[in-house]
Amino acid sequence: MYSLIKPALFRIDPESAHDLTIQSLKTIGQCLGPSAPLDGRHCEIAGLHFNNAIGLAAGLDKNGVAISGFSRLGFGHIEVGTVTPRPQPGNPKPRVFRLTEDTGLINRFGFNNLGIDALVNALSGHPYQGVIGVNIGKNKDTPNASAHTDYVTCIQKAASVCDYITINVSSPNTPGLRDLADAGKILDVVAPVLEARADLNNRKGGYLPVFVKLAPDFEDPDLVQVLEALKHTQADGVILTNTTLDRTGLVSSHRDEVGGLSGEPLRTKSEHCLKLALGVLENTLPVISVGGVMSGDDAKRRIELGAKLVQIYTGLIYRGPALVKDAIRMTRCP
Ligand SMILES: Cc1cc2nc3c(=O)[nH]c(=O)nc-3n(C[C@H](O)[C@H](O)[C@H](O)COP(=O)(O)O)c2cc1C
Repeated sequence: MYSLIKPALFRIDPESAHDLTIQSLKTIGQCLGPSAPLDGRHCEIAGLHFNNAIGLAAGLDKNGVAISGFSRLGFGHIEVGTVTPRPQPGNPKPRVFRLTEDTGLINRFGFNNLGIDALVNALSGHPYQGVIGVNIGKNKDTPNASAHTDYVTCIQKAASVCDYITINVSSPNTPGLRDLADAGKILDVVAPVLEARADLNNRKGGYLPVFVKLAPDFEDPDLVQVLEALKHTQADGVILTNTTLDRTGLVSSHRDEVGGLSGEPLRTKSEHCLKLALGVLENTLPVISVGGVMSGDDAKRRIELGAKLVQIYTGLIYRGPALVKDAIRMTRCP
């Protein structure tokens, strides 16, 4: 089915194709309601139960308007956002590019979103039975020195409508955001969020896990230091990785566009970060692997390497819903 739709979608500009997809899935969800996650490899993280290992990565449903539609693909979890305290328009268009020959995307959306209040409204009382994550960020005009207040505002407002929170300090499209993830600074954001979490429950009235999403562009010793810092906090997991600034080996005409690169060209880097993190964390924190998962085999490999969960974004654009089903099937417990 997707092989019939894809040529038409790929003929229109990527952002319009994205908007059309979200609108269609929103309508499908409104008409049919959500589906339960497909049965696959069950997993427990910080008290959360996942029916399968495959989730939707942040950034596709930024405002949480199409969860029911996405749930019909079978995902075990759906991460919405990145959301910021106040609505913001993001960067000027065009801001997303298909690198078809490289099976990748470059985006510089810049956290365009309707703000935390609209997201909370969209998620309130949501009937999806899978796990809902809310990925939180800071507004572009909030200085880094007070960034933690934006993250604390978001967790306080989102806690009761989601199952977990992801602190995003890894997007390359908000100036200075990645500086928040330096080993010497990351706790300036993470610690206040964890402090705020102590007074909060999630949508099921239980513990609210907090994950931290990191970039793939650290030098290895720097990533080790960041992971060491997180290991000694009450954070519940690490999501690796966001998009990359690296452009090695690309052939597509859009390869020099500014922004974060995702999809197949990110696969090796993302796998490298996963392996490194598993070595450093030694099972103290679970790792959720994302980046360049373009096939069921890719998902299986991440789980075999030691990831607890796997997330998908760009693969869905190139392979369609069949990828989700393949990935769930291939990561099933033997
Ligand atoms: C168009 C686009 C928008 C994205 N927006 C976000 C975002 O708002 N927050 C975030 O944490 N990650 C965002 N991401 C990163 C993805 O969640 C994911 O980490 C990355 O794309 C690597 O996975 P993939 O190769 O499967 O796409 C975005 C990715 C793309 C392609």
